[in-house]
Amino acid sequence: MSKKDEVRIGVLRETLERHNYEYHVLDDPQIPDAEYDRLFRELQALEAKYPEWVNDDSPTRRVGARPVSAFVEVEHPQPMLSLGNAFDEQEVADFDRRVRERLDTDGNIVYCAETKLDGLAVSLLYRNGQLATAATRGDGYRGEDVTHNVRTIRGIPLKLRGDDFPTELEVRCEVYMTLSGFAALNRSQAARDEKLFANPRNAAAGGLRQLDPRITAQRPLTYFCYSIGEADGELPTSHFERLQKLAGWGLRISPEVRLVTGAEGCLAYFANLAERRSGLDYEIDGVVYKVDSISLQNDLGAVSRAPRWAVAHKFPAHEEITVVEEIEIQVGRTGALTPVARLMPVQVAGVTVTNATLHNQDEIERKDIRVGDTVVIRRAGDVIPQVLRVLVERRPSPSTPYTFPTQCPVCESPVERVEEQAVVRCTGGARCSAQRKQAFRHFASRRAMDIEGLGDKLIEQLVDGEVVADFADLYGLTVADISALERMAEKSATNLCAAIETSKRAGLARALFGLGIPEVGETTAQNLATHFGSIDSLQTAEIESLEAVPDVGPIVAKNVQSYFADEANRELVARLSAAGVDLTAPMDDTAQSVNASLNNQTFVLTGTLSSMTRDEARIALQALGASVTGSVSAKTTYVVAGEKAGSKLKKAEQLGVEVLDEEALIALLEDAQFAGD
Ligand code: IVH
Repeated sequence: MSKKDEVRIGVLRETLERHNYEYHVLDDPQIPDAEYDRLFRELQALEAKYPEWVNDDSPTRRVGARPVSAFVEVEHPQPMLSLGNAFDEQEVADFDRRVRERLDTDGNIVYCAETKLDGLAVSLLYRNGQLATAATRGDGYRGEDVTHNVRTIRGIPLKLRGDDFPTELEVRCEVYMTLSGFAALNRSQAARDEKLFANPRNAAAGGLRQLDPRITAQRPLTYFCYSIGEADGELPTSHFERLQKLAGWGLRISPEVRLVTGAEGCLAYFANLAERRSGLDYEIDGVVYKVDSISLQNDLGAVSRAPRWAVAHKFPAHEEITVVEEIEIQVGRTGALTPVARLMPVQVAGVTVTNATLHNQDEIERKDIRVGDTVVIRRAGDVIPQVLRVLVERRPSPSTPYTFPTQCPVCESPVERVEEQAVVRCTGGARCSAQRKQAFRHFASRRAMDIEGLGDKLIEQLVDGEVVADFADLYGLTVADISALERMAEKSATNLCAAIETSKRAGLARALFGLGIPEVGETTAQNLATHFGSIDSLQTAEIESLEAVPDVGPIVAKNVQSYFADEANRELVARLSAAGVDLTAPMDDTAQSVNASLNNQTFVLTGTLSSMTRDEARIALQALGASVTGSVSAKTTYVVAGEKAGSKLKKAEQLGVEVLDEEALIALLEDAQFAGD
């Protein structure tokens, strides 16, 4: 390695870690994201050039290469205790009194007051300042090793800052998801037609318990540290100061931590946070008061599994009791039947709740929810209210269990249940007006054709009045047709017509997404559009060429093929096209290249090439219609291996994928060029 590169690698690692710290720990980014990405790629390129110089501390190595096959159990150096609860002012006063009595003091106790985050407890073990192990709480004594996942949380330092840390340091923290991160995650789940998470806690827990760290890396997880477990060496004798130490070593601590005096100070802190709770970007279920002096903590000790020196003061739960007046079934775009409880209106944490989701048939049966039942409901944050349980003792008699419909409540087609799935579907397809309405909503939505003004009420009228039967009919609507509808002024009708007209130019990717082919979300639609360039080549594509598209597996390929195998769908596409809807991808997309002789071929580039950079090779291949991806799979056509090729070459050999050296790549590029000419 040249001295220059060696120095540069060191500088880049340090710079990137500093930016990680400023962004994810201090919440104070100093450079634009694009600049961070540029530095990151520069480091990646240098590390690819000198694989022997890659080490686990490098910011490029947060997401490990391989998923683990199972979780390993680890024993905590010190048990992870839980906390006793206080539910009102009296119980807080009692806690404070017990502390003073045990310590035999009349004086006021100094407490460290903190937020009680609703996430997952994790223990981080640092050895010589390096993150060695991260484990979940488990039963308090033994947890699961989640190091591979915790490394992907960018605010968690892989290396502590400074040099005055204990050689062995166990830090306890709560890993959680911000409400904004949760909302963004669910938006992207919805856009890909994937399952929504019920609440931030579930999404965070699911994220930590992944075998594949690449999935965890996509979840916006963060954390706050709240205490130190096992540690050797000197530490401050105040809990509050210990937390400041952790901050100094580059760990995140809550900005809400305060020192307060006596029960009175605790209650003032509680009142202040209760007031600001709804403005925080994370969920808290209460606050925690801890005796600040570590020596007093030791004097107080613990009972069973909770310390005597701390208590969790909980906010009143967002739970209420109400009556199920009706169980209604909603039919979604794909025909899924979702039961919804219509409730006697009830106030929960300042919001009137009239509906709760019942999820599916199994959920109703498991909880035995019946019309007329009195139930406990819970509302957490912005999530849809849930029915927690039935108060069976208040069940009216007689009462009969709820029977799930065997026919679609809208179109009366029979329903079917796919084995091993909880969902029951209407088999009516486009004949079902409920499915049609949802399909129009999806087609017109912002991420699909973005037809502003085509809202629910209008769709309802258009479908129920049989003004439109399919998407293509939208393009035949006139201002007169639309203004004939209820509550439609001519001005809005004109605007809507203009919006429909504009949507003709949305392009292939959005149109494909809008068609609502099962499991073809936004990204897949974009990849298909880029790869095939026009709906004509996509419609006639064979399974194998579909599967060559990034993100397209056998199921999606089959869905796409069966969609276009259906005569009615082909006719719809033809009519959309005849109406002037642009069903091609923009010209600068690869498949639009004049010479597409490497269409349907997928390349992986690895190692160092001598006559060109890997980027140059990628551009040359893509210009000829090839896909270039980062990982080797059975779908890979060729792996191009330069000098010092490593694991990707090995993988190619294992899978029997053909390997090209640089010379063969150049010959192939020349042949392809020639074929195009
Ligand atoms: S202190 C011995 N502080 O609550 C002290 N815990 O019910 C034990 N939690 O397992 C924990 N925020 O997951 C502490 N500021 C905070 C906390 C907190 C959330 C969680 C933690 C713990 C559980 C105890």
